[in-house]
Amino acid sequence: MGISYSQIPTPFSKEVVEQLLNLSSVLFPTIDSSDFTWRIERMPELSGFVARDESEIVGFKLGYAVTSERYYSWLGGVHPAYQRRGLATQLMKRQHQWVQAEGFKVIETELIQTNHAMGKLNEASGFTAAGVRFDTKPRLIYRRAL
Ligand SMILES: CC(C)(COP(=O)(O)OP(=O)(O)OC[C@H]1O[C@@H](n2cnc3c(N)ncnc32)[C@H](O)[C@@H]1OP(=O)(O)O)[C@@H](O)C(=O)NCCC(=O)NCCS
Repeated sequence: MGISYSQIPTPFSKEVVEQLLNLSSVLFPTIDSSDFTWRIERMPELSGFVARDESEIVGFKLGYAVTSERYYSWLGGVHPAYQRRGLATQLMKRQHQWVQAEGFKVIETELIQTNHAMGKLNEASGFTAAGVRFDTKPRLIYRRAL
């Protein structure tokens, strides 16, 4: 069987959160799991798109609303064994379609400047670099009008 894509029903089930956290800890070793679950439980208009191999989540894209018009594409990743097969591109496409259909006017995302893979993918998906936010490291802000 190939890869299947779907949107996660909200609220996310405990099992799904566990799978997302497991994959996130592989992709982002310094991830703060309590902040991760805090956002999943509390941020408005949460959405999650996943790619599964059989029942296992091998890629995901999560986001939430910042205002009634602005949506934030928060976190995403693809398991190393499944990278460079177009999964992230597919997930982002589905996310943007849904965000637009929900009536948001702008989608934004942020990126640590050295993440060139994600930068390329953002630009190929219609985002343009729109500024820098100075956190512990400078983070590039990308924006796409929908
Ligand atoms: C960034 C990431 C999500 C890309 O996932 P992916 O499924 O491999 O991406 P795709 O196959 O859809 O690639 C789309 C394009 O992105 C660019 N890209 C992806 N991975 C790349 C890499 N390692 N190096 C350079 N460019 C890359 C390429 O332009 C690629 O197109 P191509 O394969 O036709 O050249 C994945 O590498 C990842 O999970 N990285 C770790 C987590 C992360 O950085 N997440 C983003 C921050 S929230």
